[in-house]
Amino acid sequence: MSHIVDQVSFGAIVQVRDRLLDQQAQGRKVLRLESGDPSFDIPVHAREAMEKALRDGLTHYTASTGIPPLRQAIYRKVTTENGLHIPGPDNVIVTNGGMNGLYIVFRALLDPGDEVILPDPMWTEIAENIKLAGGVPVPVRLRPEAGYQYRPADIEAAVTPRTKAIFVNTPHNPTGMVLRRPALEAIAAIAEKHNLLLISDEAYEHVIFDGEQHVSLGSLPAAQGRTITVHSLSKTYAMSGLRLGYVIATDELILERLKKLVRCTINGVNSVAQHGAAAAINGPQDATLAMAAEYQARRDMLFAALEESPYLVPFKPSGAFYLWARITPDWPGYQGKTDDWSMTNYLIDAAGIGSSPGSAFGPAGEGHIRFAFSCSTDQVREAAGLLPSVLRAAKG
Ligand SMILES: Cc1ncc(COP(=O)(O)O)c(C=O)c1O
Repeated sequence: MSHIVDQVSFGAIVQVRDRLLDQQAQGRKVLRLESGDPSFDIPVHAREAMEKALRDGLTHYTASTGIPPLRQAIYRKVTTENGLHIPGPDNVIVTNGGMNGLYIVFRALLDPGDEVILPDPMWTEIAENIKLAGGVPVPVRLRPEAGYQYRPADIEAAVTPRTKAIFVNTPHNPTGMVLRRPALEAIAAIAEKHNLLLISDEAYEHVIFDGEQHVSLGSLPAAQGRTITVHSLSKTYAMSGLRLGYVIATDELILERLKKLVRCTINGVNSVAQHGAAAAINGPQDATLAMAAEYQARRDMLFAALEESPYLVPFKPSGAFYLWARITPDWPGYQGKTDDWSMTNYLIDAAGIGSSPGSAFGPAGEGHIRFAFSCSTDQVREAAGLLPSVLRAAKG
């Protein structure tokens, strides 16, 4: 008999990472373009606040929804910067990273068999969390000819009587596609028309390029009262290991369920990390801006290299730190295979370069590959230097 957890995979990226770490342990140089972990240090004022919290003995249980100064800081940030209309800090729930936020949100919203519309490709953990909550992921294909946009017409065509929510992620992992205000307004209008909830994953809100502006779905009039927003501090402040995220909701019943779920799962985030998070949000934001500028420079380096490489058609991302590329039909393959895994395997074996096979992100990801440029600029530069010639040397 199959258990619901048996439906969840261990993840393709973990397999790639383990192979790269194996090779590294054997003394080989590897370039870590497989996963999205910022190379930067956390902002100095966040680190100092954590050091102070430790010295002051702030190491005890906290309120399970978060310490008041952090919930207050988040309340101020989402109402001023994101344009959300929420009554107060009680609408903020601090979570153990965005991942824990997504888990409790799907768990709080879904009954068995409820459908959630989501982009395909999509960061795998979304579909897995929907399934863990008993829901059914309903993928909407993002097409290369449409710039991988999550198109409102395709979303509406996927609505059925069992649809409970539309999941939105901008900037998007894995393509780096950014949804602008008109597209978000059209999605909110669909939710209003069919009385659906909206789940907005804004983990990459501050990793955005070329002067694009991040628009928070929950700030749009048609989305108000029906949107649950999930944020993360992992990318904004490079705090990935400190596990800080938060959820914003307005519906009283949903809020009550979310509070019960944090109490019964994590019962509050690490107290010291919460003090660091409050300092990060309240303090100067120049470190975040500097990181975004550096990511943009890395994107340009890597994009130019992929444009020069055979067998790949790269998509220029407007946000997040991933470069998504389509593998062309003339790819000779590796070890008798020509799928996306064959290119990932070839790049590991031939040059120690990490990547993620597109099929890891859903059926529409097949025949694609994702390179993350969140590792150091030196690693990205080195990989960019190698990729064209390494791919040219592929023999099948
Ligand atoms: C789209 C998306 N949402 C949410 C997260 C959650 O990140 P974390 O749990 O580190 O906050 C990630 C992490 O990679 C992501 O890619």
